Amino acid sequence: MIVVLDFGGQYNQLIARRIRDMGVYSELLPYNTSVDKIRELAPKGIVFSGGPASVYEENSPKVDPGVYELGLPIMGICYGMQLMAYQLNGKVDKSSKREYGKADVQFAEGCHLVKGLDRKQTVWMSHGDHVSALPSGFVVDASTEHAPVAAMSHPDKKFYAVQFHPEVRHSVYGNEMIRNFLFDVCGCAGDWSMGTFIEDTIREIREQVGDRKVLCALSGGVDSSVVAILIHKAIGPQLTCMFIDHNLLRKGEAEGVMETFVGKFDMKVVKIDARERFMSKLKGVDDPEKKRKIIGNEFIYVFQEESAKFDDFEFLAQGTLYTDIIESGTATAQTIKSHHNVGGLPEDIKFKLVEPLKALFKDEVRKVGEECGLPEEIVWRQPFPGPGLAIRVLGEVTEEKLHIVRESDAILHDEIAKAGLKREVWQYFTALPNMKSVGVMGDGRTYSHTVGIRAVTSIDGMTADWARIPFDVLERISNRIVNEVENVNRVVYDITSKPPATIEWE
Ligand code: XMP
Repeated sequence: MIVVLDFGGQYNQLIARRIRDMGVYSELLPYNTSVDKIRELAPKGIVFSGGPASVYEENSPKVDPGVYELGLPIMGICYGMQLMAYQLNGKVDKSSKREYGKADVQFAEGCHLVKGLDRKQTVWMSHGDHVSALPSGFVVDASTEHAPVAAMSHPDKKFYAVQFHPEVRHSVYGNEMIRNFLFDVCGCAGDWSMGTFIEDTIREIREQVGDRKVLCALSGGVDSSVVAILIHKAIGPQLTCMFIDHNLLRKGEAEGVMETFVGKFDMKVVKIDARERFMSKLKGVDDPEKKRKIIGNEFIYVFQEESAKFDDFEFLAQGTLYTDIIESGTATAQTIKSHHNVGGLPEDIKFKLVEPLKALFKDEVRKVGEECGLPEEIVWRQPFPGPGLAIRVLGEVTEEKLHIVRESDAILHDEIAKAGLKREVWQYFTALPNMKSVGVMGDGRTYSHTVGIRAVTSIDGMTADWARIPFDVLERISNRIVNEVENVNRVVYDITSKPPATIEWE
């Protein structure tokens, strides 16, 4: 294992990720993790990440100096290098010019980090401070025009440090340098895989939970499903899942959750039928923000009421991912996340948390899900808003409108699958714009709903482009919707990108 200490840099999550991709387990931990905790984890090496602070500022993040005495190899990156220099009595100064972007460096002969690589390299720099005097015992391994010490090391202690960012792709041999640190300097075996992660996690859950009981709020989404299956593998009948049906799910979704978890995996799932409760709260409400608030709050009330019935549970399982922790800011991540993961749990929640995915990224979670045997529909489930179909029905939410969205959405999914476009289109769904217009069906005039189709390509949902679905596929979808879904006489296709539009129509 390699411990990456986090000093707040924007690329930090990538470091742990790159190391895991190389077959070495790695976790990003707060910079102030105690020496005892690090010793307990028995890592083969430590990486100090980058960060936005200046080491000479009074309150800048520093490691416990005992970390340097652990006898472990350390690799410092950017701020991590400056910190190493500063704490070991070198000198760090503000540069006259900030260095940002690609830079060419020339490494000295014999530096372990570039073993087997070209000594002249293009790397990615992003810093305003630089090391101006080496700590004793260190040698300069590389320099650039603006950074007299672009890399330094103390080979006897196995301390290596670079001013640039090897973890970003623009550093051409960055991965190889990290690899050299892992295998050449730290002597890692490189035999870690998702299978190892699953085995280790199951063992850790058993240790944490003992013979006590765990409650897991299951939404049918990827994260909560993978958490549930991992915990089930670890402690079987000591786990109870709670699935709240708020009537705002897609066609077959509630049934699918029960079928998978109860039918296939024989898990204990308590299904809470809260459909009426949510519908009555949504009656007469057409403002999308109000709908979101009502649903979010109601979700908490239902969860609180229902979980109070389970007196003997000590743990609550959460599908917190590493990205959720970053969003909340690492120092306070635990409490903030316990709010928004289950829709905003109160702070005085009596449960302890079990969060087995908190070191992982979404695609790693999917791999775990696949290895645990979860079906493709769950592992590759598209993003789905917490408030569900309530925001895909514009205006007041009624049973009739939900029915139209559910049925038309199921047709869209079916036709996209038949056309072999499932993995090509990032997200696709239908929405009901709350608009009726005149049509003609048979010999008669109709005055019915319009269904909107939204289908986008995207990487992360932050920006998106409308998907170029072939016209003949769109034609089949449109024909089927007007023929098979009652009270619909028109289908439109949304051809706006995000921005300026959003993905959802709410
Ligand atoms: P917008 O509509 O803002 O959506 O372009 C971007 C992505 O986020 C999804 N989305 C949500 N996901 N809870 C979620 O987990 C929500 O409340 C929520 N609202 C929107 C949306 O489906 C799209 O993929």
